Amino acid sequence: QAPKDLAIGSAVWGQKQLMDYDAADPTQYQQVLGAQFSSLTPENDMKWDAVHPAPDVYDFTSADALVAYAKANHQQVRGHTLLWHSQNPAWVTEASKTWTCDEARDVLEDHIRTVVGHFKGEIYEWDVANEIFQDTWENGGVKLRTEANPFLKACADDPVALLEDAFRWAHEADPDAVLFLNDYNAEGINEKTDAYYALAQRMLADGTPLGGFGAQAHLSLLYGFDTTLQANFERFAALGLHVAVTEADVRIPLQDGETGPTPEQVATQAERYDGLLQACLNVKACSSFTVWGFPDANSWVPDVFPGEGWATIFEDDYSRKPAFDVMLSSL
Ligand code: XIL
Repeated sequence: QAPKDLAIGSAVWGQKQLMDYDAADPTQYQQVLGAQFSSLTPENDMKWDAVHPAPDVYDFTSADALVAYAKANHQQVRGHTLLWHSQNPAWVTEASKTWTCDEARDVLEDHIRTVVGHFKGEIYEWDVANEIFQDTWENGGVKLRTEANPFLKACADDPVALLEDAFRWAHEADPDAVLFLNDYNAEGINEKTDAYYALAQRMLADGTPLGGFGAQAHLSLLYGFDTTLQANFERFAALGLHVAVTEADVRIPLQDGETGPTPEQVATQAERYDGLLQACLNVKACSSFTVWGFPDANSWVPDVFPGEGWATIFEDDYSRKPAFDVMLSSL
C-alpha cells in the first residue's frame, strides 16, 4: 500500500506537449498524463536556458502553461532545476569566463529568487542543485563540478558556501518547497553518494534548508541493478531528509534492425522499474517517484544513448508496458 502522500510523477516537456492544452479537448497524450500521474516535472521548461534567455529577460511562458495544466488536472509540480552545469544560456557561458565569485553569486541569487518566487506556493519539491558531483572516471574523480559548472567554477575556493546560499535563497523565496540535491549514478551506496552524504551532513550542520536527496535513476539493461538503493535512501532519511526517485527510466540495448526488445528484456525492465518503486515504498521518507517522460517517442534516451531505447513505461500507441502494470500492482 502506497503511503497516501507518495506522489507518482512524470516528466513532461510543456513547450512541446502542453501549449495547445484545452481541458475540453485534450490530446491523447494530455489525457494519459492527467489520468495516470499526480505529479509533473518540467523536462526542460524551468531550466536556465528556458526561463532566463538573456541577463534581464525571464520567460515563464511554457513553465506557466505546465503549472496551469497541472492545476487543471489536480497535480503537484516538482521544480527542476536551479543550479546545473548543463542547459545554461549562451550568455551565462560567455559571461562566466570572467566572473568573480561575487558576480556569479549575484547572478545566481537573482535567478533563484526570481524563478522560485515566480512559482511560490506552486512547487512542492525543487531540485535546487543538479549533478554537482563528478563521476569517478572524470578527471579529478568524485568532487564538486568546479570546472564544468560555471557558478561553482567562479566560486571554486568555497563552492559549498555558494551551494548553501543557493538553498537559502530558494527557501526564502518559497519556504514551503522541499529543497533537493539531485543526481544520476546516485541510486546505490557508492563513492558519489558517499560524497553527497558527507555534503548533506555538512549542510545540515550549517543550518542550510536542505530538505531532500533525489536519485535520478536513469538505468540501463547493460548494467546490473544496484540493490543498495533502499539502504542508500535509508541513510539520507536518517538525516531527516526526504528522498525521491526523480527521473526513472530503464533503457534497453537494441541491435541494428531490431524493432523491439526480447520478452526477457521486457520482463527485466519491469523488474527494474518495480525495484526502484519498491525501494521508495519501503522508505517512509520517500516522497515522490517520477518517471522521465513517456511514451518512447518522447524519451531523451535514443538521442543521448545511441543503440539504446524502449526506456519508458508506455508504447508509442499509449498501450501500457509490463513495467506499468507491475508497478501499478505494487501500489
Ligand atoms: C534531459 C531532457 O530529457 C532532454 O529533453 C534535454 O535535451 C536534456 O536534458 N538528467 C537531468 C535532466 O537532470 O534534466 C535531463 O533531461 C536528463 C538527465
